[in-house]
This record gives sequence, structure tokens and C-alpha cells, in this order.
Amino acid sequence: MDRIRITGGNPLNGHLTVSGAKNAALPLMISSLLTEEPLILNNVPRLADVLQLERILINHGVDIAVHGRKPADGDDSGQRMTFTAAEIVDTCAPYDLVSKMRASFWVIGPLLARMHEARVSLPGGCAIGTRPVDFFLYGLKQLGAEIDIDNGYVIAKAPPGGLVGGEVDLPRVSVGATHTIMMAATLARGKTVIRNAAMEPEIGNVAECLVAMGASISGIGTRTLVIEGVERLHGATVDVIPDRIEAGTFAMAVAMTGGDVLLRGARPEHLQAALDLVERAGATITREAGGLRVRRNGNGLQAVDVEVDTFPGFPTDLQAQFMSLMTRANGTSEIRETIFENRFMHVAELLRFGADIRVDGQLATVTGVPELRGAQVMATDLRASVSLVIAGLAASGETIVSRIYHLDRGFERLEEKLGRCGAKIERLAG
Ligand code: EPU
Repeated sequence: MDRIRITGGNPLNGHLTVSGAKNAALPLMISSLLTEEPLILNNVPRLADVLQLERILINHGVDIAVHGRKPADGDDSGQRMTFTAAEIVDTCAPYDLVSKMRASFWVIGPLLARMHEARVSLPGGCAIGTRPVDFFLYGLKQLGAEIDIDNGYVIAKAPPGGLVGGEVDLPRVSVGATHTIMMAATLARGKTVIRNAAMEPEIGNVAECLVAMGASISGIGTRTLVIEGVERLHGATVDVIPDRIEAGTFAMAVAMTGGDVLLRGARPEHLQAALDLVERAGATITREAGGLRVRRNGNGLQAVDVEVDTFPGFPTDLQAQFMSLMTRANGTSEIRETIFENRFMHVAELLRFGADIRVDGQLATVTGVPELRGAQVMATDLRASVSLVIAGLAASGETIVSRIYHLDRGFERLEEKLGRCGAKIERLAG
């Protein structure tokens, strides 16, 4: 298994290009199941999760083409890909494919809408929490689906003639349930109202894509989505939005190491809550043509409290990275996770750097220390693993991060991007 070696203590300077958002690319790719015509996506990131979803879509019969040349060193442009689901050859998403990535469960929405049936393995729990699918099943039932669970599979059947519009009041904001029910409702007969919908920018990206494919959706960017079903959708060309979590991660890395970096393509409106906190912690952030500039001149970091929330609040996907930053702040900060019940696995690893963190349930109390010292650490999930990279960049001496396949799921060529900004970071082949 590959590992990453970091020699800490170097500031970051230069520019980085933010890749396309993993959490937008995945549901956009899944949307291609809704039409027999080609869906062209620009700026698709090169990530392990994208490759995994390609396997799943190919299994359903989707024809996938990647256009253009292979990226040269220093070329940060995303992939242009075409997804054509001319014929769905299989409406089953099997366990061995779905169990590797939770978002693959979301194919249930488009399959049910277009083919009137789907058999999709339950995604199961995962490291950061139990992550049940009850909201998805409730929502699909509201659209008339009959749902059965058999042998670890969700078996969903639409009523004769297909799904029908319905009222869906989500008990809690869920990104995946919103994507899935919205996709399913585009081809349902009549009107669907989704209340308490997620407002994450990735939902907006997918909703705009569906509209470009001929869907009728209003309320995009609000808590209530209204979808008027149409008979068929057609092809479209859509850009994947820049990854706000990657941008926020780099902003925190610069705040941690000091330096001056332009984050090309970052959209401040997608991560304002995180930027506010990074500024309060001591970095200077300015909007510049084409991106965001993050600077810190080496002065001390300030402790800041944070409570994770759904968008537009501070995202759970940046909680680990912010905790890493706070390990070096002056004072004590309280970090409360509210979305997932087990998303503090990075704490045990951050302690190896000499950090001072106490956990009580969903609350972590971080008291800044004057120095972090390099350590051997292990990645436990995607965002946790990058928090260890951030700590390693600021720690004295050498850090080795193992199990970095977690990192490859969601960060495109991380070591190359950081290396170009002056970090001493390299991948060691396993
Ligand atoms: N939930 C239920 N029942 C459901 C669905 C969700 O109880 O049927 C709960 C979850 O267990 C969780 C909360 O509702 O406690 C919110 O979960 P949500 O459904 O919003 O999460 P998700 O759709 O599974 C996406 C991202 C995650 C991100 C969360 C929260 C993708 C592919 N995944 O997950 O991203 O943390 O929203 O913003 O978009 C990551 O990229 O590392 C990652 C984990």
C-alpha cells in the first residue's frame, strides 16, 4: 500500500488549481442513467471514487468515453467525459460494487424512474457512522414505489405506468436522499415537493444539470424543491463545480504552514462559513480574479470554536482539517460534530503529533500546543487522512501517512499540487 512522506516546516507559496468536486461529479454521473442520450461532463476529477462509479455505471450498460489527452505534469484541467445510457442492460447494483462506495446506492432513484424497477444492495455502515437509508426509502415510497428488503438488497418497484409525484418531507437534511429523490421525481407523473431539502452547492449543480436535460425544477438553492415530472430527458453538457472541500482544505493548509497561495477556481460563496473561521484563526483571505488568495505571515493562530452544520454552515467534510489547524492555535477551541456520530477518528492520530485533544461524545476540545512533531500515522477515512497531511506539513521532522488509498478517493494528485507550492511531500510506493 502506498504511503506519503512529508518533511514538515515549509510554508506554502504559489498557486493551486481546485479540481472538480467529487460530491458533485458522482451524482452528475448517476444522472446519465435518466436518458438514452449522451450526458457530457466537463471538469470531472481523476479520483478513485469516480473510477469506482464508472464500474457501476458500466454494469448498468452505460457507455463511457474520456476525451482529450492524458494530463501532463502541472496540468490541472479536469476530464471531459461522455456518459451514454442508450440502453439499461441491468437494473441490479450488486453488493461487491455498492459496498465500496456509499454514493453508488443513489442509482436507485434514476433506475426506478426510467426502468420502473431497481435492485440495489444496501450500502451498509461505514467508518464515520451507521448512515442508514430510511429517508431514501421513505421518499421513494412517497413517489409510489413499493419497497422490499431481501437478502441485503433493496428491491424497488414503481406502480404500473411509473412513479407518481408526491410530497416528501425529509425528517432531517440529507444530501444523498435529496439527490436521489430529485432525480427520481424528474420522470415521475405530476408534481413532487421535497421539503427540508439539502442546499449544498452540489445539489444545485445536479439540479441545474437535470434542468439542462429537460427537467422542470424550481426552488434550486432553497429548502423546498418543486419538480414537475416530464416524459423524457435528453442529453446535455454540464460543468462540474470546483471542489469546495478541496479549496477549504488548502486554505487551512496555508493557514497552518504560513505562506501565500492563490486557489484558482475556488468559489468563496460555496465555503463562506469555513473562510470566516480561517480568517478568525489568523489568515488573510482575499477574492481575486479567478480565485481566492490565502495568506498568513507566520503570526500565531487563534483558537476558534466551531459547530458543524449543513450548508451554508461549516461542513462536516472540513471538520478534521480544522481540528488539525486548531492543534497549533493559541488557546482552546471547541469543535462539535453534528452530522455523523463517529467522525473523530483522526483524533487518535493527531495525538501522535503531540496534539492536546479531548473528546466527549460529539465534542472535541483542542488546546493548542507550541509545536507538532512528525509521526507515523494512519489514514482512517478520506477527510481524516488529509487532516494528517496538514499536521505533517506544519510538524517538525518527518511524517509518514499510511493507508492513503483513502486520500486517493477524494483528492486529486494532492502531493503534486502541494509539492509545487513548496511542500516537501512524496508518495512512497507500497
Ligand atoms: N441519514 C439518515 N438516513 C438516511 C440518510 C441520511 O439517518 O436515509 C443521516 C446520516 O446518517 C447522517 C445525516 O443524515 O447522519 C446526513 O447524511 P447525508 O445523507 O447528508 O450524507 P450523505 O449524502 O451520505 C454526503 C457526502 C458526504 C458528506 C455528507 C454531509 C457525497 C458523495 N457524500 O453524504 O461526503 O459528509 O453528505 O454533507 O456527497 C466525503 O466526501 O468525505 C463525505 C463523507
